[in-house]
Amino acid sequence: MNSAPLGIFDSGVGGLTVVRAVQELLPSEDILYLGDTARLPYGSKSPETIRQFADEDVRFLISKGVKAVVVACNTATAHALPQLHQQYRVPIIGVIQPGVEAVLEDAGAARIGIIATRGTIRSHAYQHALAQKRTGLLIHGQAAPLLVPLVEENWIGHPATREVLKTYLNPLIDRGIDTLMLACTHYPLLIPVLKDLLPGDVRLVDSATTCAEHLKRELTRLELLASREREGTLELHLTDLSEQFEDLARQFLKKSPGRIHRAVLGP
Ligand code: DGL
Repeated sequence: MNSAPLGIFDSGVGGLTVVRAVQELLPSEDILYLGDTARLPYGSKSPETIRQFADEDVRFLISKGVKAVVVACNTATAHALPQLHQQYRVPIIGVIQPGVEAVLEDAGAARIGIIATRGTIRSHAYQHALAQKRTGLLIHGQAAPLLVPLVEENWIGHPATREVLKTYLNPLIDRGIDTLMLACTHYPLLIPVLKDLLPGDVRLVDSATTCAEHLKRELTRLELLASREREGTLELHLTDLSEQFEDLARQFLKKSPGRIHRAVLGP
């Protein structure tokens, strides 16, 4: 089983931020990535729909023989992870628990801001997970639905993006946050702009790096780490192929994505 690939899925290509973080920490792992580009975004869809999509995503990866599944998508983790855990025996790792643990590694963290899609914020999954682990936290969730399209347009340094970010961040800055949880696949790409706009003492925690660190600990614990010497491979499967997604995949991976396969999902 150790030589089987890891399965990682997201609503689109944004989850490649998680792939990059995993490749950095676990360079010998083969990765099979599924991006549900035909049905994105997940962030604005109902919990029932997300649960159905996430189920089909996991089934696809399991049918390819993966040894573990990473739900790179925050929205899918927020709505579907408990159900996926009940339904499947393969280890399934989401992004929320690792992010929450990383936030609370700082014993002084007390005022937490969370930015994410509408779906993730409305699920209250981060807010509940944080509040369960530490009492007395001040938690403010801010839906930031315009950020995904801005990143996908590669408008990262654009003045419009700065203005939108200021609008989302100002209520959090007014509340005196000490930590900002970047609870969406796309937001690691915004870190340079975020650092510029936030007070210097606000700590940024992103779900991609923290998920990769958690995954390494879990694979070690389950004795599932690949033992090969060579560098791991990456195979991309998307439910819709278009030039735009190829360009985006390159932007997120910072290198050529290689051949992209078309995935057909079924119930
Ligand atoms: N991948 C989604 C997330 O992390 C963002 C994009 C979408 O809404 O599908 O929540």
